[in-house]
Amino acid sequence: MSLKLDFSNVVDVNLGSEHGLGMEEIQSLVEKGRRVQQELRKKAEADTLGFYKLPYKKDVFTEILTFANAARKRFDYYVHLGIGGSALGPIAIHTSLKDSYYNLSESPKIFFPDNVDPDWIHDLLKHIDVSRTLFHVVSKSGATAETAATLLYFMKYLKEALKDNFYKNLIFTTDPVEGLLNVIAREYPIKCFRIPPNVGGRFSVLSPVGLISAAIAGVDIEAIVRGAAEMAQQCDNDDLMQNPAFIFAAVHYLYMKRGKNISVMMPYSNKLRDLADWYRQLWAESLGKRYDVHGNVVEVGQTPVKALGATDQHSQVQLYVEGPNDKVITFLEVEQFEHNEPLHNYFPQISEFNYFEGKSLGQLLNYEKQATELALTNNQRPNLTIKFSEVSAENVGAFFFLLEAATAFAGGLLEINAFDQPGVEQGKIATYALMGRKGYDKKRKEILEQLEKKQSFVV
Ligand code: PA5
Repeated sequence: MSLKLDFSNVVDVNLGSEHGLGMEEIQSLVEKGRRVQQELRKKAEADTLGFYKLPYKKDVFTEILTFANAARKRFDYYVHLGIGGSALGPIAIHTSLKDSYYNLSESPKIFFPDNVDPDWIHDLLKHIDVSRTLFHVVSKSGATAETAATLLYFMKYLKEALKDNFYKNLIFTTDPVEGLLNVIAREYPIKCFRIPPNVGGRFSVLSPVGLISAAIAGVDIEAIVRGAAEMAQQCDNDDLMQNPAFIFAAVHYLYMKRGKNISVMMPYSNKLRDLADWYRQLWAESLGKRYDVHGNVVEVGQTPVKALGATDQHSQVQLYVEGPNDKVITFLEVEQFEHNEPLHNYFPQISEFNYFEGKSLGQLLNYEKQATELALTNNQRPNLTIKFSEVSAENVGAFFFLLEAATAFAGGLLEINAFDQPGVEQGKIATYALMGRKGYDKKRKEILEQLEKKQSFVV
């Protein structure tokens, strides 16, 4: 595994004194960082913060591999039903390590319908044969409306195709005990994988949530967790100035204090693009909080934005270089691409193309990244780079762990609870109420009254 965090372009000697951070400023957070680290370690040891232990669950990986090997023979299609933390990690693994164009992979073909857009879901039926499809329903709570609804949607076709044997094409990944999926699984012999209760949705990618679709696609899941475990060692370093999770957290924390409340993640790699989507949820839901742990209203958080290099150089970078200096940009860079065919100028009459001669697309992409980095730095825009030696399962696993540990550190520095999501729950409850779910009558009445009072301004 080789994943490095380069934070040179936030340090004042490179970025200038107005927007750069002094090394002593970062250093001044070390003491607080140590307290946060102790607290996180205590929680990991007491098993109240489960994501730290996920890379070491060997028995779970064996169970997943055994299941996936059999499933690859039995099914031609795999459909992953889940949303948020139950989908973004698996999608990121799939597009980075298997199939960045989606659904062109060999059998089984893998699909992630992580929305309830009825037309999109309906279109999926054109691409699968339900009788030869494994549906993997992933929901930690076992109750999320979108996931339950897509399960019910496909149930119609499963029942039509398989009658009472429908359950043979279903597996669940959910809490060990709680939730409605367990109620179903108690009635039918449906294979269930477990999300440890102490692992939140957005921290669950290294559990069956993310590893089953990966194993079914033929991705080396043992390499993913090996990379994550190696990164876990680095993120446990007592020397916090050498600890990449602390540095990432400290830099973002210090910039939040300076009002830079946007965190852009910009992979210069199509394969890595969905890692930025995964990060968006992790950073947004974990750190966007109204209250701190002492009960004070703090309303903190950074808005994560996803951009893709070089594509978005022609869309976003103008704003990043010259617009409000309110962002911290994290590039993802691939040092060694798998394919490096040299270009040749087939139009000798156009000497302007000669500079491409012998250069590869990978070189162009990385020079473009370097050029954007220079433009940002010269305009005093803080930027960091996470360097992947290559796009490999080890490095992707290391990336997940690094950002999870950094998020936990950032939560500690901000003194907020990075592991709950009361804002998301509000939306979930309102949806249940509007849909008329049992037990939500009072809420439904409140919402309907509120909607009645609402004054409408529409043009
Ligand atoms: O991070 C979280 O906890 C959430 O974003 C959940 O992942 C998301 O709401 C889906 O929840 P569940 O897995 O319970 O269906």
